Amino acid sequence: MIPNIKNICCIGAGYVGGPTMSVMADNCPDIIINVVDKNSERIKLWNSSNLELLPIYEPGLDRIIERCRGKNLTFSTDTKEKISSADMIFISVNTPTKKNGIGAGQASDLKWVEACAREVAMFAKGHTIVVEKSTLPVKTAEVIKTILKASQSNYNDAKTFEVLSNPEFLAEGSAIEDLEKPDRVLIGGESADAIIALSNIYKNWVPKDKILHTNIWSSELSKLTANAFLAQRISSINSISALCESTGADIREVSRAIGLDSRIGSKFLDSGPGFGGSCFKKDILNLVYLAKYFGLPEVANFWEGVVNLNNWHQHRISKLIIQKLFGTISGKKICILGFAFKANTNDTRESAAITICKDLLEEGAFLSINDPKVTKKQIEKDLEKISIDNNSNYTCSSDFFDLEGQWVFEKNIYKSAENSDAIVLLTEWAEYSKIDWNIISKKMRKPSWVFDSRSKLSAKDIINNGLLLWKIGDGSDNK
Ligand code: UDX
Ligand code: ADP
Repeated sequence: MIPNIKNICCIGAGYVGGPTMSVMADNCPDIIINVVDKNSERIKLWNSSNLELLPIYEPGLDRIIERCRGKNLTFSTDTKEKISSADMIFISVNTPTKKNGIGAGQASDLKWVEACAREVAMFAKGHTIVVEKSTLPVKTAEVIKTILKASQSNYNDAKTFEVLSNPEFLAEGSAIEDLEKPDRVLIGGESADAIIALSNIYKNWVPKDKILHTNIWSSELSKLTANAFLAQRISSINSISALCESTGADIREVSRAIGLDSRIGSKFLDSGPGFGGSCFKKDILNLVYLAKYFGLPEVANFWEGVVNLNNWHQHRISKLIIQKLFGTISGKKICILGFAFKANTNDTRESAAITICKDLLEEGAFLSINDPKVTKKQIEKDLEKISIDNNSNYTCSSDFFDLEGQWVFEKNIYKSAENSDAIVLLTEWAEYSKIDWNIISKKMRKPSWVFDSRSKLSAKDIINNGLLLWKIGDGSDNK
């Protein structure tokens, strides 16, 4: 019999759980959706009346929360109660790369997923469909199933479970759009009834032909593979950007030329400072670990190369900044535009900005860091270094030897540029394309450099205002 789902519990109110459940609640007014998280601070923010305080910034999310919260969508820490009333439970918790032990640095740490499975086993009542939403290594469903099955004999009340894999393909910054109009929804599992029950929920807003049914392992592996392929494209184009700079070619022309081949396609061919985000590196390393585990070292090496190239590329950018500034940046002020791993998100996980800023600080630069959405506190955490007080009169000096290896958080781009030797664009926020380079050029110390790692700034304006420009993948100096 196909269960009619009336009550959903999602464990984990993070970047995936929060937006996914919000869009589901918005499209399924007859289903009660309860999102739970053990982090009470995060839940408080999800419930704040000031929508600017939501813990996640995603365009369009605030409007949905306004419509659904308190009606069919709740956020709480009542894990036990919400699990016990649910017909379907989504597991959407974090699965960071393991720091210690077997597989450290590559395998996913499944302790939170396991903890969830145990909680579900303990508190669920009757028949419950458990859906893996977090990105997980292949065969995790097996672990969840084993834990759930073991519980069936532990507790007196009759409990039965089905496990499905339903990976999320949303990208940050466009999460709401991706969820409302997904390219596809993937559901993997063994029970046809459970698969149909979940498909019926998605059918409220997703066309039937975009809902794919697979076996559970294909579903888990497809998610890792999709991320690996996307990341591979970025490493491929970034590798060619270095070659463009050495040969006189231009990466934008190369991207356009190859992207017009319908077999290649034009998306994900923008050369940048290297991919970041919580998924790409983690998922590829997961794939590497799996390949090694199953005795496929050639496969492991192939995919590991994508991550190695990305690391190399990020350090390549810091090295060339140092090189252009006469081989030394100690006592020089460098203004950093953007710290998020991409525009339209406040997420900094694995951001190229972390590696590049750390390299520059290590070399003794004084950094003035600007980002429209990332907080000073977050940058302090990422750089493992506190910011100097930005009320101090640090912009007055013409050199910054006293501030070697330090950084300041600066909300005003023009103040940030004062007396700086270089400006480095790392995140493609729209406001950076509107900078008045005439004003900036009067504020900077000469010779002044602009490093555009996203190829988003107006080269003409920068050069016409007497500034020196380096642009990713632009080999025009070598023509
Ligand atoms: C990614 C996948 O796109 C998504 O399907 C999956 O569910 C989670 O991982 P996300 O990490 O949010 O999403 O960001 P994405 O837009 O894919 O960008 C990842 C990184 O690649 C960013 O640092 C971005 O700046 C970089 N990138 C992307 C490029 O450098 N060039 C491009 O052409 C595209
Ligand atoms: P993702 O990007 O995968 O959504 P996040 O780290 O943003 O990951 O969010 C995962 C959330 O899951 C966190 O807010 C964390 O507190 C929550 N979480 C982890 N384990 C549990 C658990 N056992 N019960 C409830 N919430 C949990």
